[in-house]
Amino acid sequence: MDYMRLSDANVINEKYMDSILIEERLIDSVVADTSIRFFGETFDMPVMTPAFSHLPNYGGREYSGLEEYSFAAKECNILNFCGMMENDQFEKLIKTGAKTVRIVKPYADHEKVIDQMRCAESAGAFGIGMDIDHIFGPEGRDVVVGEEMAPQTFDMLRSYVELTKLPFVVKGVLSVSDAVKCADLGAKAIIVSHHHGRLPYAVPPMMILPTIRKALSGRDVRIIVDCGIVTGADVFKAIALGADAAAVGRSMLSSLEKDGIPGTVSFLKNVGKELRYIMSFTGFSGVSKIDPSVLHFTSSDPCPR
Ligand SMILES: Cc1cc2nc3c(=O)[nH]c(=O)nc-3n(C[C@H](O)[C@H](O)[C@H](O)COP(=O)(O)O)c2cc1C
Repeated sequence: MDYMRLSDANVINEKYMDSILIEERLIDSVVADTSIRFFGETFDMPVMTPAFSHLPNYGGREYSGLEEYSFAAKECNILNFCGMMENDQFEKLIKTGAKTVRIVKPYADHEKVIDQMRCAESAGAFGIGMDIDHIFGPEGRDVVVGEEMAPQTFDMLRSYVELTKLPFVVKGVLSVSDAVKCADLGAKAIIVSHHHGRLPYAVPPMMILPTIRKALSGRDVRIIVDCGIVTGADVFKAIALGADAAAVGRSMLSSLEKDGIPGTVSFLKNVGKELRYIMSFTGFSGVSKIDPSVLHFTSSDPCPR
């Protein structure tokens, strides 16, 4: 096995997630309810779309991939996310009617950050955030599609929180240290993520989730997890380990590309159906009742009971 494969955080993540097993608790069990409350709204399931960018109009269809999955999120009544884009593109996404959190890039051009956050709020975003894990590249600072990124300080992030009335989400948290800083600076949610493997040997988000949950106990910060979320079983494990919700990622792309809005709706609904099935099988009637006691770790247990 070569270094690239050994160090690939996506491979490490997949292996870790697959090593977690689930026991059954059927007596007295009922068909579960997957709905959740998040930032004051009710959603049909704790499944969210990923903060994606740069998706074309697949198959020459009318809407871009970003708009298509936003329409799907609206139809599924789930929280929608989007990533790097210009303001006119974001305004188009808002027209889909999806409740959307705009994850602004950590641009070195500070004015651009502020402008995109202001635009998001005035256009009707549901929340605003930043992916803090896209700042370094092989040459030093990262450059994304020609735009330079910059490290973000605690004070910069706090100033974004203070700039908006909307809930602020920090994406790319992968340590207790950053999670606690996010709580201290006033973020209302974090996305525990390694941004599909930007850091070699990155700890699987689900492995670090229980310690982050514990560190944020009693703080008003919701926890979303992403990376390698493909099925309802993955979402179930994420919630059992301490997340409030999980976001799918590249797992959504083939349905989106091939079958657009209906394909994405079907993919997302199937994730939700499998989640409900597993909740029912494990005796959890609602999402907030799920706990880690049904999980069995075939590698080391990060969450001793
Ligand atoms: C095409 C594409 C575009 C993405 N654009 C962004 C982005 O602009 N901002 C961001 O925070 N994350 C972005 N991501 C990362 C995702 O939001 C997410 O963290 C990641 O895909 C999760 O890993 P997974 O695909 O293995 O599930 C992008 C991912 C892909 C595949």
